[in-house]
Amino acid sequence: MKWDARKIIEDELNKQSIFKNRESLMPEYIPEALPHRENELKLLASYFRHLIANPGSMSQRVLIVGRVGTGKTTLMRTFATNLTSIAREKGLSFDYIHVNCYKNRSLFGIVRDIALQLGLSVPHRGLSSKEIMDAVISFLDEGDRYTLIVFDDFHYFVNIAGKEAVYFITRAYEAFHESKRLNMVFVSTDTNIIGVFDPVTESYLNRYIIKLQPYTSSQLLDILRYRASLAFHEDAYDEKLLELIAEYEGVDRSGEGNARHALTILLTAGDIAEKEGAGRISIEHVRKAITIHDRSKEIERINDVLRYSSLHELLLLLSIIRLLRKKNDKEVEMGEVEDEYRLLCNIHGEIPRSHTQLYEYTRNLSKTGVINAVTKNMGNRGRTTLISIPYGPLEELEKYVTTLVTKKREIEY
Ligand SMILES: Nc1ncnc2c1ncn2[C@@H]1O[C@H](COP(=O)(O)OP(=O)(O)OP(=O)(O)O)[C@@H](O)[C@H]1O
Ligand SMILES: [Mg+2]
Repeated sequence: MKWDARKIIEDELNKQSIFKNRESLMPEYIPEALPHRENELKLLASYFRHLIANPGSMSQRVLIVGRVGTGKTTLMRTFATNLTSIAREKGLSFDYIHVNCYKNRSLFGIVRDIALQLGLSVPHRGLSSKEIMDAVISFLDEGDRYTLIVFDDFHYFVNIAGKEAVYFITRAYEAFHESKRLNMVFVSTDTNIIGVFDPVTESYLNRYIIKLQPYTSSQLLDILRYRASLAFHEDAYDEKLLELIAEYEGVDRSGEGNARHALTILLTAGDIAEKEGAGRISIEHVRKAITIHDRSKEIERINDVLRYSSLHELLLLLSIIRLLRKKNDKEVEMGEVEDEYRLLCNIHGEIPRSHTQLYEYTRNLSKTGVINAVTKNMGNRGRTTLISIPYGPLEELEKYVTTLVTKKREIEY
């Protein structure tokens, strides 16, 4: 047969993709329907009824807890965007603020983010958290505005900023301000998080707590059906594939009940089928996707944390990984990590951060479960911090963190 470049290109261009809308399986996508979360949506509406019926009568606080991938973020976004449009249709000045506590782990960072999302201009430095919060309250008072602030993944903030900062967020402003314009939802994967609040807030939140249970196989099947119908052409998949995924991930089948996992597996299976040029997804594609997913579970877990890490936090992590691999050892000492880090900085043309700053990074990485760090007494050699990474394989982790470093550097330059 004659070699025909034009035909090869045309055939490829004409080939129908199995995807109708690939984005609808991405984690950021906000679906219109949330099957099996109707009751939670109803509860939220009942807790915030006052905002519509009698605005300013109270400032509500609600706690949402549930394991990873149980739909906490999506539930809150769905609720809050709808509530905003309902409130505005009633003529209320209402703003919904979504604070990501991975990204903002300090009190100042969070308060500044709230102000920025309200459209206030805030300098990087020079103002205290209290001054910014005062400006926020005055802005709301003067404009007769109400707001719902969602503190998503609040446990990250709690771990790093500490109890006093939590107190500031929940209580401190109440002492100075009469107005009841702030409403808050705290979202967390940590079921014990309620213990970090002061006793008054704790006993209040105990009455306004919503627990999201991990999804069962049959619930996941409904979710997968709905999302698959958005993502794929009808003849590109069938029910059996969805059942296989739902049974693998369902909490009743000793899976985690994590909807994000289930959807990621479906997306990966679709990608594999597409890459192979298969017209439809097969059971074998799903099996492959499950295997890939199993291998990268840990990386996926820390992915969420590392997304928002600074360049030098990532360089420090990379030094730890490289050193652990080089020495083929269970753990490494902080001192040698710092040497390796300076070497890496040299290679990348970066100015190394101070010892104190590195110590702070180590603490953060340890608190968010990326590394294990323990301080050990070394007799007359003083004390040292021993660092280990209990998961892996480190080869894959190194590749992954290297990519993140490259990306970060591209953004920063
Ligand atoms: N009931 C549902 N119906 C449809 N899609 C859902 C449902 N629950 C979760 N999802 C989807 O699953 C994914 C994970 O949901 P989400 O990010 O809201 O979970 P989360 O509880 O916030 O997880 P994390 O603790 O990791 O932040 C998203 O893509 C979301 O759209
Ligand atoms: Mg979330």
